[in-house]
Amino acid sequence: MPAAKIAPSLLSGDFAKLADECQYMVDCGADYLHMDIMDGHFVPNLTLGAPIIKSLRQHTDAFLDCHLMVSHPEQWVDDYAKAGADMFTFHFEATQDAPALVQKVRDAGMKVGIAIKPKTPVSVVFELADKVDMILVMTVEPGFGGQSFMADMMPKVRELRQRYPELDIQVDGGLALDTIDQAAKAGANVIVAGTAIFKSASPKDTIALLRKAVDEQ
Ligand code: DX5
Ligand code: ZN
Repeated sequence: MPAAKIAPSLLSGDFAKLADECQYMVDCGADYLHMDIMDGHFVPNLTLGAPIIKSLRQHTDAFLDCHLMVSHPEQWVDDYAKAGADMFTFHFEATQDAPALVQKVRDAGMKVGIAIKPKTPVSVVFELADKVDMILVMTVEPGFGGQSFMADMMPKVRELRQRYPELDIQVDGGLALDTIDQAAKAGANVIVAGTAIFKSASPKDTIALLRKAVDEQ
């Protein structure tokens, strides 16, 4: 299984000082900065868009892992590439033509990920798994931080890991010190955590413990 990558979700940070929060997470050992992009349409919440990613890029060299919870993700590819996003992860449910979008993201020079919501079967990504950099298995309904981890998503992770031993498999939603073992055991290696990291007494220790749980599998 590939090495752990810990991706704090800035959704749990203070948006009024986003650049500082990003630097703080990097200093605490983050591998990726997970940016939750919501359009108030694909999900019932609205967060940030490409202009903010562009501004942030002026303040950090860190890997910007952009999770697009938006309708019509194809219309934003060029904006995110120009803004300096490193990875563009779109929802399978939001697009009519996932293979074309995978190619479009690659052509724009970004890494590409595909996300699936809890009710979407994992089989929909099988034919694309060897063409993407990452698959994101949502472990909550997308839209908000602070929800409970859905352990019943673990069979999807397990099946992906069995089929694709080298693939980066991301989990997002409710990951914390009391749920990480289930996700790690199933085969997830890219761990998003918002509440568990930002609300912890020591984000640095929490990141280290999440990493240890994955790397010890
Ligand atoms: C939810 C977002 C998550 C969210 C996770 O739709 O995709 O990235 O920030 O938050 P926690 O870790 O608090 O469940
Ligand atoms: Zn997310």
